[in-house]
Amino acid sequence: MQASPIKKPPMTIILLAAIIVALTVGIVLLLIFIKNQAAPVRGIAPLVTIQAMEPNSAEWGKNFPNQYSTLLQTADNKTRTTYGGSEPVQKIEADPRLVTIFAGNPFSKDYKDDRGHQNALIDVRETNRLSDKTPGTCYSCKSADNPKLWANMGMEAYDKTPFSEMSKQINNPIGCANCHEANTMRLIITNPALDTALKAQGKDWHTFTRQEMRTVVCANCHVEYYFQGESKLLVFPWKNGTTIEDIEKYYTENGFVDWTHTTSGASMIKMQHPDYELFSASSTHYNAGVSCADCHMPYTRAGAVKFSTHNVKSPLLEPNTSCGACHTDVDYVVNRAKIIQNQVHTTMISTEDALVAAIETIATSAKDPKADPAKIEEARKLHRSAQLRWDFIAAENSMGFHNPTEALRILASATDLARKAQLKALEALQPAK
Ligand code: HEC
Ligand code: HEC
Ligand code: HEC
Ligand code: HEC
Repeated sequence: MQASPIKKPPMTIILLAAIIVALTVGIVLLLIFIKNQAAPVRGIAPLVTIQAMEPNSAEWGKNFPNQYSTLLQTADNKTRTTYGGSEPVQKIEADPRLVTIFAGNPFSKDYKDDRGHQNALIDVRETNRLSDKTPGTCYSCKSADNPKLWANMGMEAYDKTPFSEMSKQINNPIGCANCHEANTMRLIITNPALDTALKAQGKDWHTFTRQEMRTVVCANCHVEYYFQGESKLLVFPWKNGTTIEDIEKYYTENGFVDWTHTTSGASMIKMQHPDYELFSASSTHYNAGVSCADCHMPYTRAGAVKFSTHNVKSPLLEPNTSCGACHTDVDYVVNRAKIIQNQVHTTMISTEDALVAAIETIATSAKDPKADPAKIEEARKLHRSAQLRWDFIAAENSMGFHNPTEALRILASATDLARKAQLKALEALQPAK
């Protein structure tokens, strides 16, 4: 007998096919189920509605306890690093050259290192640099009350009000309202001076990417600025750009002078803390798209929740979290950071020696009745140019780490200008040929 060409499939194969069909249907149903689930929410769902520009961070903290509790931790950071950290070291005592360099400026009396965000109000109220003439403008980067006050009274009126008067309306240190829009929690620019400065360069922050905002939000405060005119209006000198040369050009064009140096007689500019300008001047990290928040507010875990730590501090205190997010060899990059900082510091001290020599030589020459006044004036201009460059790096907070090549370039040019100032002051005493 011939075997039938079509074999009946054995029982096991029928069973297998049935299982496959059942599994496929099951998976499809499961996928449909997953797709229809609500998107997972990071953290906890909002509990309360926050008023626009709410100055009290504790209110926002009801919805976002992790961000709030880490913000509060900035009050208690005390650990020092070689060049940073959170202790208010008196820079004047650490480096007496600064007394000569800042002669005639309040910084020669009191110049402390910065501390955590939660201390901003205490520290601005305690500094010996305050006087009856101090304008309200000094509160511009210290308080979460500002966005609401600026909206209600306008920045012009705020800045014109004396510091002591403004104190009555300012109760909260830096907080959520300085960086976030209530409820959407979007990062926003809250300082009108930053908005104006960006517009002057043809930039509109509303078009910035999220990653750009993670840097620009810090530029609300960590920048060079000055108080313009009698009304002491807060202005960022960025119209020509944000490099030190652009900023010097701006001040020269506007004839702005912070103070007259009591020893050299030069018309000086005091730099504030151009962290944003130095970092964004084509540093390796900036060009690679790294943001301030990547290093200073790294993601942290609390149980199952991942959030940005709001305990903003020196990244060298917890390099595994800060640098380790991108670098596999953390010890190597931390060591590189130390080498960079030491190198910038040594170079900066040589620049200070050159500045002190220039200041003393100008003072001696200027006292001599035979000195050529035109050359003394030239020497003073060189002193101003040298010192504002040095100060751009000295007042910046990272001891060059944010942009090592730019820091060393600027210090080299500052030393050169200071030595030229000294030579010009000596030349002023030589009889005309
Ligand atoms: C690649 C990482 C990185 C990025 C990006 C970065 N920083 Fe830093 N920052 C550092 C390091 C490292 C230090 C040095 C800390 C020290 O010396 O203890 C520092 C120091 C500081 C300090 C002084 C801290 C202290 O302890 O006194 C401030 C303020 C600061 N940075 C602000 C900023 C701002 C604003 C930006 C963006 C414009 C920025 N940083 C971008 C790594 C970074
Ligand atoms: C100095 C500016 C600054 C302050 C002050 C600030 N934040 Fe943030 N916050 C940021 C930055 C930068 C991010 C990262 C945003 C991103 O990645 O888009 C962030 C992220 C967040 C997020 C998103 C989730 C996360 O953790 O990444 C929440 C929620 C938040 N902040 C809540 C708060 C609350 C609440 C306060 C006040 C207690 C506060 N923030 C104060 C800058 C700030
Ligand atoms: C509203 C203004 C404001 C904003 C916005 C702001 N800062 Fe600050 N920041 C300050 C002031 C003022 C201090 C110094 C406080 C003091 O010394 O009491 C400071 C201090 C710091 C310090 C030193 C902390 C320490 O322990 O020494 C770091 C680091 C820092 N800021 C980084 C950042 C970064 C990164 C951002 C953006 C995510 C940012 N800040 C946004 C005003 C601001
Ligand atoms: C968000 C990612 C990110 C974080 C966080 C980060 N880095 Fe980097 N870092 C980079 C990238 C990208 C480069 C460029 C690498 C390249 O081009 O080879 C770089 C380069 C460097 C370099 C070489 C710089 C140069 O000029 O050649 C050093 C040093 C360094 N990082 C140190 C640090 C330290 C210290 C920290 C922590 C405070 C840190 N980085 C945090 C991404 C990061």
